[in-house]
Amino acid sequence: MARRAFCSWPSLLRATTTASLRPMSRKIQTGSSQLIQATGSRLRSSEVAEQPFVIHPGVRAGVAMSHVTKGERSIDIAFDNGIHSAFPFVWLRDNCQCPSCFDKDSSSRKFLLENLNVEEYPTNVQSNSETIQITWSDGHQSEYQADWLHQRAFTDAARSDYSKFHALTQVPWGAGHEFERFSFDELVSDDRRLLEWLVVMEKTGLSLVTNMPEDLGVCKLIEHVAFVRKTHYGYAFHVENRPSANNLAFTSAKLGLHNDLAYYEYIPGMIMLQCLKQHEGSGGETQVSDGLFAAEYLRQHHPEAHQILRTSPMYFWDKGTAGVPAESPRFYKLSKAPVLQYDDAGNLMAVRISQHSRDSCMAISAENVQPFYAAMRLFYDVMEANSVTYKMQNGDMVALDNRRCQHGRLEFEATSTRHLVSAYLDLDEARCRRRELQDRLGFFHLQ
Ligand code: OGA
Ligand code: ZN
Ligand code: ZN
Repeated sequence: MARRAFCSWPSLLRATTTASLRPMSRKIQTGSSQLIQATGSRLRSSEVAEQPFVIHPGVRAGVAMSHVTKGERSIDIAFDNGIHSAFPFVWLRDNCQCPSCFDKDSSSRKFLLENLNVEEYPTNVQSNSETIQITWSDGHQSEYQADWLHQRAFTDAARSDYSKFHALTQVPWGAGHEFERFSFDELVSDDRRLLEWLVVMEKTGLSLVTNMPEDLGVCKLIEHVAFVRKTHYGYAFHVENRPSANNLAFTSAKLGLHNDLAYYEYIPGMIMLQCLKQHEGSGGETQVSDGLFAAEYLRQHHPEAHQILRTSPMYFWDKGTAGVPAESPRFYKLSKAPVLQYDDAGNLMAVRISQHSRDSCMAISAENVQPFYAAMRLFYDVMEANSVTYKMQNGDMVALDNRRCQHGRLEFEATSTRHLVSAYLDLDEARCRRRELQDRLGFFHLQ
């Protein structure tokens, strides 16, 4: 049977999901400066912000083999849906699925590397449309199913599918982006909505969750996904104006756009800011921006500045003592990383913008300081011009990809009883839950 990778979802379900994934209509203010807004550039936010994320059920079973040939170093298979792939001998031997080579209970390879002969070759290959049986030169026998092989084909398309299962493609957004909205109740009671939320978080790095329960709803939600990532500020921390605060967040001062915990080498992937009590009157608004969007804008329009930010290491630090019992008694964090941290494949791994926690000790030479500041200021201005401002109401929660998006808040009166509660979730755990839901609910392909 042909593979129906993008078979259609029953129309009722599709309509529900598409509707629930549509950008929401609540009016939000956007960053005021028009100077560096990306309108007219290839990164227009409207191109990305209005795309609903359609979840397709993937059908992974039912493919058959139509042709099997033994090559020099691989077995070449043609499947009945037109896909062809070579399967190298060494890979086949390493991935033998027999009980002595592979433990199904733990989904783990038992076959030891010390027993792998990288020159292993088949002495006999038997096949029908469903299975291949191989006898190896050392006498070991293996059997492989057509579906299993098909999912692991060495084709660009199959590798791209798996790469998207590993990490969803990020979609940058700029000025005018509207929050996707979810409610706490649906996230904890409906696994499909939970999957949609995790998809939105991974792709855009931003959402709004409403109707959060008062007593640490943020932790309840994180624990519904996985578990809270603790920091030296404790398990969850209360953001309210405190005398002699050990962190600027615990004052009423304006916080410019920043990533939390830039002073960690392993920055938590997600931050959740739950509003228990908002400041009445003006002040206390939340500002958010997409660092991925700003980084791409710089790469395209100011490549020298981009290069400086990706190659100049900075120190970020947080030194202090506990202000409340939940915090570590004493702490002295110090990280060293560029503002824009990329992996070898050119993916943006982390953005570290934090005016309040960037160290005054520098890892760059004096002549590079002025160009660094100019580049950082430019990057900040792009973020600011493409930011979105939203005033949370009691019960709202803003969730952000903290390694990618920045948040800030406007100053409010020092006498205010404004009260937020905040906690973190590691990206590994969020992605783990997203994959588990995809697998269990049968949605292999996400677009
Ligand atoms: C923080 C923070 C934002 C706010 O706690 O790190 O950025 O709205 N708070 O108080
Ligand atoms: Zn085996
Ligand atoms: Zn913060």
